[in-house]
Amino acid sequence: MTIAPPGPVAGSPLIIDDAQLIGGDWVRAADGRTIDVVNPATGEVLARVPRGGAADVEAAVQAAEAAYPAWRDTNATARATLLFRWAQLIEDNLVELDKLESQEVGRPHWGPPPMAGQLRFTAGQADKVQGLSLPTYSPDAIGLTLREPYGVVGAIIPWNAPGPMFVTDVGPAIAAGNTIVIKPAEDAPLTALALARLALEAGIPPGVVNVVTGYGHEAGAAIPAHPRIRRMSFTGSPQTGTLIMAACAQNLTPLHLELGGKSPQVILADADLDAAVPAIARGITLNTGQICAAGSRVIVHRSVHAQVVQRLAEQMSQVKVGPWHEQVNMGPLINAKQQERVLQYMQLGQEEGADLVLGGGRPAGEQFERGYFVEPTLFDNVDPQMRIHQEEIFGPVLGVTAVDDEDEALAVANGTDYGLVASVWTRDVGRAVKFSRGLLAGQVAVNAALGAGVIGGPFGGYKRSGFGRTMGADAVLDYTTVKTVSLRGTGA
Ligand code: NAI
Ligand code: MG
Repeated sequence: MTIAPPGPVAGSPLIIDDAQLIGGDWVRAADGRTIDVVNPATGEVLARVPRGGAADVEAAVQAAEAAYPAWRDTNATARATLLFRWAQLIEDNLVELDKLESQEVGRPHWGPPPMAGQLRFTAGQADKVQGLSLPTYSPDAIGLTLREPYGVVGAIIPWNAPGPMFVTDVGPAIAAGNTIVIKPAEDAPLTALALARLALEAGIPPGVVNVVTGYGHEAGAAIPAHPRIRRMSFTGSPQTGTLIMAACAQNLTPLHLELGGKSPQVILADADLDAAVPAIARGITLNTGQICAAGSRVIVHRSVHAQVVQRLAEQMSQVKVGPWHEQVNMGPLINAKQQERVLQYMQLGQEEGADLVLGGGRPAGEQFERGYFVEPTLFDNVDPQMRIHQEEIFGPVLGVTAVDDEDEALAVANGTDYGLVASVWTRDVGRAVKFSRGLLAGQVAVNAALGAGVIGGPFGGYKRSGFGRTMGADAVLDYTTVKTVSLRGTGA
C-alpha cells in the first residue's frame, strides 16, 4: 500500500498531502506532478494535490473494476448500512468539512452543507430498487425484470459546491452497486478527498470510490474517453459538457449532464416585495453568485419596477464582502480566470447599454487585493437581447428587465437557452398555477428564490441546462439498467 506522508493540510486532519485515492491507497500522480490548491480570498496555498492524468485514470478504472463484483453482490441492505455509516461520519466531521470547503471555495459559512441528509435519503433507496414480474405467453414460463448496476461509472464535478456535489454523484452510484471514478475540480478538490476518506473509514470497501485529482483537459478528459466507463455524469459549463458528450459518443456511453442556468425571478404586480427582494438579493450573492440555480434575471411588472430596483440596490449594497473567516455575506470568486470573466461581463453590460445601478468592479481596499473579489452588481433596463441577459455569468451580477404583462413576463423568462430554475412571485393562485406550468425549467419555485426546501425533489435542467435528474426518489434506480429475464422450467 502506497501511503503518502500523513499530516494536517489546510489545517485539516482529514487531508493527506499530495495524495489521491485509487483502490484504497493514497497515491501520488503516476508522473509525480502536483497542483497547488489556493485560498481564493488570500492567494495562500492551502495544500497540494496530485496532477493526475490518463495513467492515473487507467489505474483507478482497474481498481474500480476489481472492486465491482464483490460490491455488486453485497446485499443491498448491507450497502445501505455502509452509506448510513458514511453519512454519520460526515455529520461527526461537519465542522471540519465545512471549514475545508469554505477555505477552498472561499465562501463564508452558510451553515452545515446539506450532505449527510442527502446521503441518508439516497441510502434509504438502496434496498428498494425493484423490478417487475411480467405476463408470459405460456404458463410454464415466468417473466421478470432485474435492475442491475452499470459497472464502473465516471463523474466530473465542479468547484462551486464540491461537498454536496460529491455526495450527490457518489451516493446513488454506489448505493446501486456500481463502483466509481470521480474527478473533483482542480480549484476545489479537498472536500472531495476528505469525503472519500470518510467513506473508507465507514467501511465502504477499497476501490468502490476512487478519486483522481487533476486538470479538466488531463485527468478529466481521460474519464469519458475511457472505453470501460459504463455511465458518465458531469456538472459544469455547457462548453465542457459538449466535450464530455462528444467523448461519450465515441464509446456510446450513456450520460447525465447538469450545465448551469440563467434563472429568471419573475415579480408580478401583486408580489410580496418584502419577501421577494431580500430573497433575490441573497440568492445572487450567496456563494458569490457561483450557483447553477442562482436567479440572475429579475423580470418585473412595470408597475413595481422602480420600487424593486431601489429596494434591490439597498439590499445588495448591504452585502458585506470579505474572506470566509470574517463575518461577511460574500467571499471572493474561485480564481483569477473567473474574476476576469465576471469583470468583463460587468463591462459588457455597460457597453450594451444597460444602466449600472450598483457595483460594477472590484471592491476598493487593501484587504481585497490578494483575493478574487468583485462587487455585488445590479443592472437595470436590461434588454432581453443583451448578452448579460442571455449568458451565464456565474458571479454576483443581477439584471432587471421591466415588462408590461404576464405573457411578456413568461416569454422573457423562457427566452434563453437555459432552463434550470425559475421563480415567480405572486399572491394569486391562478397566476402561480399559470407560471408553474408555463415556465420552462426543471425546477419552478413560487415565492422562493432558490426553491422552498423540498425533500427529494429531482434536480436537473431543460434545454441547454442539461438532462437527467439527481437527488430524487429514483436517483438510485437511475444508476441501474434493466435486464428482462424469462424463466422456463425443464419439465417436471
Ligand atoms: P468547467 O465546466 O470547465 O469545469 C467543471 C469541471 O469540468 C472541472 O472539474 C474541470 O476540471 C472539468 N473539465 C474542464 N475541462 C474538461 C475537459 N476538457 N474534459 C473533462 N473535464 C473537464 O467550468 P469552469 O471552466 O470551471 O467555469 C466556467 C463556467 O462554467 C463558469 O463561469 C460557469 O458559467 C460554468 N459552470 C457552471 C457550473 C454549474 O454548477 N452549473 C459549475 C462550474 C462552472
Ligand atoms: Mg474550464
